Amino acid sequence: MNNVRTFKKLKKKAEKIVMITAYDYPSGKYVEEAGADIILVGDSLGMVVLGYPDTLKVTLEDIIHHCQACRRGADDTFIVADMPFMSYHLSIEQTKLNASRLILEGNANAVKLEGGSLNRLAAIEAIVDCEIPVVAHLGLTPQSVYAFGGYRVQGKKAAEFEKILAQAKAIEAAGAFMLVLEGIPEELGKTISETLSIPTVGIGAGRYCDGQVLVYHDLLGMADFKPKFVKTYENLADKTINALAEFTREVKSLSFPSEEYIYNAIKKNEDN
Ligand code: KIV
Repeated sequence: MNNVRTFKKLKKKAEKIVMITAYDYPSGKYVEEAGADIILVGDSLGMVVLGYPDTLKVTLEDIIHHCQACRRGADDTFIVADMPFMSYHLSIEQTKLNASRLILEGNANAVKLEGGSLNRLAAIEAIVDCEIPVVAHLGLTPQSVYAFGGYRVQGKKAAEFEKILAQAKAIEAAGAFMLVLEGIPEELGKTISETLSIPTVGIGAGRYCDGQVLVYHDLLGMADFKPKFVKTYENLADKTINALAEFTREVKSLSFPSEEYIYNAIKKNEDN
């Protein structure tokens, strides 16, 4: 299985890192079979699996439950578990406890948290001090959707650009082993990736990050909302609906189950 050192080596070799989200046994199994380097059990779970309008209502219990299922499908892949909104904001003690639960109960290998403020840096340091690897996340961090006033690309203005760059450097100094960059101009993704020695993984952060991440349901055409940075590799929503509609039609028209799908009783005089 990959480990924190593998990802540093990939950056050194300039080999791109592939991260894909997964949330349960089948998605974990498929992502592992596809050969991704890392699985992220993201709090995007709230939107693409649980049907919430944003990620804020996802709980630690939700992530633990889905991470356990994902691990059952992907026992040979490095799994990062997202720390939900307010699970690392209240106190250092609670932050450490919550991070450790994702490792011990969720069976994750690392945790991810959003933001680069002084409090977030303290949270990263405290978790790293517990020997738990941390992935940080900057840019359009979805847990800040209300603070940002919507899902808006971050770092377009010079001051914001410099602030995110400074936070990225501070995150590396705090001990994170990887940084997810979301919804920022390509130029900023490039500058951060060239400046830091830890790998960056981008989503809507351009071509120059050390890796790319996409949400499972986005790349398979199963999500309601499609941001500009999403490439849909397959349209499973349409394929799924068509298959379910065909089953519905066949049952209504009595063509399913046909002969090949039924069991026959053993005839009375042939029971030996
Ligand atoms: O929750 C998630 O899926 C994420 C990715 C978008 C990086 O944080």
